[in-house]
Amino acid sequence: MRYRSQIVAYWYFAVAMCLFGLQLVFGLLMAAKYLGPDPLLEFLPFDRAKAIHTNILIVWVLAGFMGAVYYVVPEESRTELHSTKLAYWGLVIWVIMGVTAVIGYLFGYTHGVKMLEQPLPHKMAIVVVMLMMFYNVFMTIKKAKRWTVTEGVLLAGLVLAALLYLPALLRYENYTIEGFYRWWTIHLWVEGVWEMIQASLLAFLLIRLSGADREVMEKWLYVIVGLVFLAGILGTAHHYYWIGVPQYWLPLGGFFSALEPLALFGMAIYAYFAMRRSRLDHPNGLGIHWAVGSAVFTVFGAGILGLAHTWPAVNKWTHGTLITPMHGHSAFYGAYVMIVLAMIVYTMPYLTRGRSESGSTMGYWAFWLQIAGMFGMTLSFATAGIAQTYLERIMGLGYLDTQWEIQVHFLMLVGTGSVFVIGVILFIWDFFRYPPRMDIDPNVPADDRWERNAAAART
Ligand code: HEM
Ligand code: HEM
Ligand SMILES: [Fe+2]
Repeated sequence: MRYRSQIVAYWYFAVAMCLFGLQLVFGLLMAAKYLGPDPLLEFLPFDRAKAIHTNILIVWVLAGFMGAVYYVVPEESRTELHSTKLAYWGLVIWVIMGVTAVIGYLFGYTHGVKMLEQPLPHKMAIVVVMLMMFYNVFMTIKKAKRWTVTEGVLLAGLVLAALLYLPALLRYENYTIEGFYRWWTIHLWVEGVWEMIQASLLAFLLIRLSGADREVMEKWLYVIVGLVFLAGILGTAHHYYWIGVPQYWLPLGGFFSALEPLALFGMAIYAYFAMRRSRLDHPNGLGIHWAVGSAVFTVFGAGILGLAHTWPAVNKWTHGTLITPMHGHSAFYGAYVMIVLAMIVYTMPYLTRGRSESGSTMGYWAFWLQIAGMFGMTLSFATAGIAQTYLERIMGLGYLDTQWEIQVHFLMLVGTGSVFVIGVILFIWDFFRYPPRMDIDPNVPADDRWERNAAAART
């Protein structure tokens, strides 16, 4: 940490960690509900538990992104943040918004649209916090008169994410129209502008951890952003197949969404080449695991498992079955959870006191238990989803009869989910084990020494 104000990132990450833990309580609860009997049925029905599970996810991942911004911007623009106070106020509003939203959902106070359940006052709070962050960052860059491509792509991703949230602020009477615009936010977030955020954070980490040439990485970044837009925008139509819009969306959705994995493969390839060219002796091996792991797991969860059901001929059978959470979990985890955890693991030796840069055994256990657990959860949802599709959609068995037949897969989900949870508990424990740094310590090696050494060696 070279700038005092970067410590803001620690508090954003700390909030993210607490919410990550809370999110999983509701995940396990839902898995248990599938097994039944459900003593909480009256107080916390499945839909409310699911709204809480997915909303906490979005709130903590965005807190992680914002934390990353507050770390990366001073680093790349080489100056202190414009206002630390404003950044902390943003966090306070964010926490109040998140906590009251969850309490509201418990009592059925929701907007009722999947993943956009936030009532209007909460949506306004989200917009306000985003605007506060953009103002802060804009003033910081203005003061420094310096910014990099990596930083620019990160910020562009967040600005576009905020703009795409605007259609979610409106109410629609017609269900088809409501569905049509819901995907402008949800799909264009996860398969569009959030990928810009992931790609730029990955570039930042690879430049720092492998000493990869900044110019080369930033050229790749343009290529990836281009590919994301080329396929992702019209790829939205893979959600339009069965919602009551004209038929021409079927071939459009099939064709363009099938191209979407290209950008994800691109990201994994650039991670691979960056690591191959480096001498791999950066001490933060754990950070490298998380960064490269994110690129690889995204290819698996989003690229391959997304492609598997994106064709209209397949989606006709699998739409809305357990095949969807199979892909939803692995994609979200690889792309957005892992990249936030990578940023945390990279920055922690600088943001906390007494921590070794090379990571701890506990940190490695956290990594592998999470990977194994999430892989197992993906397989549990996949096997449940295949059986469900076959029994319910092809054989014509009723919904509840089918659920009865696939109980064993939910047992598997509870088992593998528990392995995942142990990995997360270890990660959170490792995070809070060391106190945050309150000031800059001249004894801590500079964050960018690897990048500078590699650049010097090249010239
Ligand atoms: C102990 C770990 C977890 C368990 C047991 C669990 C379980 C579940 C269950 C049962 C559902 C409902 C699926 C349905 O509607 O039928 C769900 C939904 C969801 N979960 Fe998790 N979850 C866990 C962790 C996570 C994590 C770490 C993430 C983020 C990467 C995540 C993201 C989601 C998403 C995005 C959905 C909505 C998926 C959809 O609508 O198809 N969950 N989860
Ligand atoms: C990091 C990137 C991605 C993430 C985080 C992600 C996450 C999700 C989530 C959470 C859902 C459930 C949405 C809902 O029903 O409300 C979903 C649905 C879907 N995703 Fe993705 N996804 C990603 C990339 C992709 C890609 C690249 C493809 C195709 C190649 C794809 C294909 C699909 C399809 C076809 C559905 C609809 C499933 C259905 O009909 O029920 N996704 N995705
Ligand atoms: Fe999509």
